[in-house]
Amino acid sequence: MSNQWLLSLVLFAGICSVQSFVSLSKTQTLGNLHLCFARTQSEDETSLVPPVMISRRDALITAAGLAALVASAPAAIAADTSVPIKASWSSVDGLNSNSDDFVSFDMSAYKAMEQDPTRTPLFRKAIEQRLAAAPSESLVALDLGTGPVALFAIIAAELGAKQVYAIEANPAVAASARDVIRKAGWTDVITVLEGFSTDITLPEKADFCIAEICGSVATEEGAYATIRDAHTRFLKEPENAANWIPSRIQTYAAPASYGLHNLFGPPEFDWMKLNGEPVRFNCRDPGLQLLADPVLVEDLSFCSILSKAQDDLMNKQQDLAFIIDAKRMEQNQPLLYDEFRRGNSSPAESERLASETAHSLSGIALWPRLFLGDDIMIDSRGYPSGTPQRSHWQTVLPIMSGRPVGGLIGGEKVVVALNFDVPKSVTKSSKYSMDGRVEFGL
Ligand SMILES: C[S@@+](CC[C@H](N)C(=O)[O-])C[C@H]1O[C@@H](n2cnc3c(N)ncnc32)[C@H](O)[C@@H]1O
Repeated sequence: MSNQWLLSLVLFAGICSVQSFVSLSKTQTLGNLHLCFARTQSEDETSLVPPVMISRRDALITAAGLAALVASAPAAIAADTSVPIKASWSSVDGLNSNSDDFVSFDMSAYKAMEQDPTRTPLFRKAIEQRLAAAPSESLVALDLGTGPVALFAIIAAELGAKQVYAIEANPAVAASARDVIRKAGWTDVITVLEGFSTDITLPEKADFCIAEICGSVATEEGAYATIRDAHTRFLKEPENAANWIPSRIQTYAAPASYGLHNLFGPPEFDWMKLNGEPVRFNCRDPGLQLLADPVLVEDLSFCSILSKAQDDLMNKQQDLAFIIDAKRMEQNQPLLYDEFRRGNSSPAESERLASETAHSLSGIALWPRLFLGDDIMIDSRGYPSGTPQRSHWQTVLPIMSGRPVGGLIGGEKVVVALNFDVPKSVTKSSKYSMDGRVEFGL
């Protein structure tokens, strides 16, 4: 193993370790590294993440020591210039997958979801609210994508559902769910149905459906295809929003600065080797900062998913325009400074890096928002400004140029044509592309 190779691995792990930890399932050459993000790992979850685990802090410390080797500041940009930016990827790139086209999860990811205090209690509340709208033990529930501990199926049973159908595509996960249900004594109420929902026929239609299949880009886990099919076959009244938990999922987008993209550059580090695969961040990671107010780019309403209006929203080009916000950059700089200091850079070096990073763009960040019921919302980042906060969902950042587009002072226009190709088949991956430019000197 050459030192250069090892250096690349450590640096790359650091760069991709944008949650507290990341596991690398393959440790070959830089371009072939396979990253196991699997929606997320919880911040205090370390035991289930073999085989290579490097904390972001450690990676930064290592990186700071090596910064002189690899640092290359973003180029200053002349006025009246426009700089191209672009990225494209598929929904399974960088995520675990047991097929070429369907996202799957490891146990640590399931655990992070289950233990997310910003998610699971709100689902419980929404299920409780839906069941309370009818006499006890009168409703049939469907938990579509129940996972290994049949989490929401058991909650629905505990809260008084008459019957619960729990669908799960992954055979090992379905077996685990069956086991948990048996041990918890719910076999007379909960039935596990194994397979893709699109291949399953329910013994009876359900009153309501819980389907936690929202990705960090809302559609990346197949929600569009799955819910289109579920809408036609699984519910007594699918056009009533109250019968879907969540009833609506969204993705927001904003241009972003990214510390490590500034810190590491060629010749030792080639970001283009990510090949479009986005970097995934813990939503409260201060290494990523937003440069403009977020805009809505995906909006999927489950009760009207078959409507022409919804169809028109999907798979058509969206032309986005953001104006870089000088005030945001001013606020971001001290946060980035603290981050570089935590990474052991000297005060002077941290000052320089924070200033460069705060005034540069690495890509367009994306993250989800879910509507669960009356006044029950889950925001993975703060709404509407996109402030960092705790969530097991991630902020997804496609790196859109080899080096960050630097020299921003505020007022520059970021123009992006966004094409999301979200299929109507559950076993086909979604394709995402963003192509645009940063316009200076307006
Ligand atoms: C994000 S996990 C959620 C697990 C659990 N419901 C929870 O919220 O903690 C989604 C699960 O749904 C399953 N899944 C996704 N789409 C599915 C489909 N169309 N049919 C069957 N299972 C599906 C996945 O295999 C995965 O186990």
